[in-house]
Amino acid sequence: MAKYRIRGARPLYGEIEISGAKNAAVAIIPAAIMSGGVCRIENIPQISDVTMFLDILDELGADIKTVNRHTMDIDCSGIKIPRATFDAMRKIRASYYLLGALLGRFGEAEVAMPGGCNFGGVRPIDQHLKGFRAMGAEIRIVNNGVIKAKAPGGRLKGADIYLDVVSVGATINLMLAGAMADGTTVIENVAKEPHIVDLANFLNSIGADIRGAGTNVIKIRGKEKLGGGFYSIIPDQIEAGTYLAAVAGTGGEVLIKNVIPKHLDCITGKLEDMGVEIENREDSVLVRRTGKIRKTRLKTLPYPGFPTDMQPQLATVLCLADGTSTVTEGVWENRYRYMDELVKMGASVQVDGRIAIIEGVPKLIGAPVQAHDLRAGAAMVIAGLCAHGVTEISGIEYIERGYEDIVEKLRNVGADIEYVYDAPKISRSARNIG
Ligand code: UD1
Repeated sequence: MAKYRIRGARPLYGEIEISGAKNAAVAIIPAAIMSGGVCRIENIPQISDVTMFLDILDELGADIKTVNRHTMDIDCSGIKIPRATFDAMRKIRASYYLLGALLGRFGEAEVAMPGGCNFGGVRPIDQHLKGFRAMGAEIRIVNNGVIKAKAPGGRLKGADIYLDVVSVGATINLMLAGAMADGTTVIENVAKEPHIVDLANFLNSIGADIRGAGTNVIKIRGKEKLGGGFYSIIPDQIEAGTYLAAVAGTGGEVLIKNVIPKHLDCITGKLEDMGVEIENREDSVLVRRTGKIRKTRLKTLPYPGFPTDMQPQLATVLCLADGTSTVTEGVWENRYRYMDELVKMGASVQVDGRIAIIEGVPKLIGAPVQAHDLRAGAAMVIAGLCAHGVTEISGIEYIERGYEDIVEKLRNVGADIEYVYDAPKISRSARNIG
């Protein structure tokens, strides 16, 4: 298996170009199922979660043409059977969006339950199912974790739905389902993340009528048909935040290009608290850190709060702060498994439930560490870039689910990071030959 080897403690200087948003791409690609024509989608990130999703659409019968590295023409008009029970479905969390998209278009769906990042806690989908049921779907969970859903009469009905918890996934799934339902759907207490707005914009660009995305209430007038279109995915807020955090940790000065600075306010505001200099430009952000990292208090919340998907990266930087910081995880029950890896590198951390107390240390020391999930993996990369000596990170397949060309992007700003491959194990008899 490949690993990343990093020789750290070097400041970063230069420019990094941000790719399209993973979490928008994994919503917009299945949304294309609802289109009756060709959707040309630009700024698709080249990451394994997207490749797996495109494979799933291909298995379903979609016609996908690559226009260039980041642009695809997706034609789902050939999909006839709303059944997605392939193995690949279990490998990505967002595969549950096929429930909303297939139910919306066909009035029925059979979908394998998702996998994806395991932060160590339960990842329920009760709010998704509650919404589909309110829209008239009958839902059964059959053996092997496959969900069968069917709308009597072949079409979902618009409904008023109140989400008990602010859920990104449920908001997206119910927007998909409502886009082609019969009548009006109103969803209250919805998530407001930039990729929710991006999905609404995409669906509206192919003929849907969705209003209020980005506020607490989304109102959808269902349409019988949606057409084709042309759409460009927004830049990845979390990828940008990860590189901002990396520069905060290592010091240096980097221009983060192709971003929407407004989407980063929740991250850059916290970095400024920590003594990092931030300069917003039209579609880029300059980040500079020359002085000490200041301690802070951090709490993750749904957007526009500080994103949980940036918690491991920022907590890693706080390991080097001047003083003791407190981190509170407000979204997931258990998202601190990666802290054990930081402790191996010399961090001083105490975790109690959703709270982590981080006492800053003068330096981290390179060590062999493991990426347990996507963002925990990003945190390991940041720790390695900051640490003195050599860090080897295994489990990098998690990192490559969500970061396009991370090694190349970091090398371009002066990081010493490379792929290393374990030598294949050679049997004793083979070793003796010659
Ligand atoms: C999405 C992101 C993930 C991010 C998370 C929160 C994608 C593909 N993934 O995950 O990276 O960490 O948003 O920003 O976009 N919940 C319920 N019932 C439900 C659904 C959720 O109780 O039916 C709870 C969850 O346990 C969690 C909270 O709601 O505590 C937020 O989850 P949710 O926003 O749904 O996360 P995902 O959409 O899975």
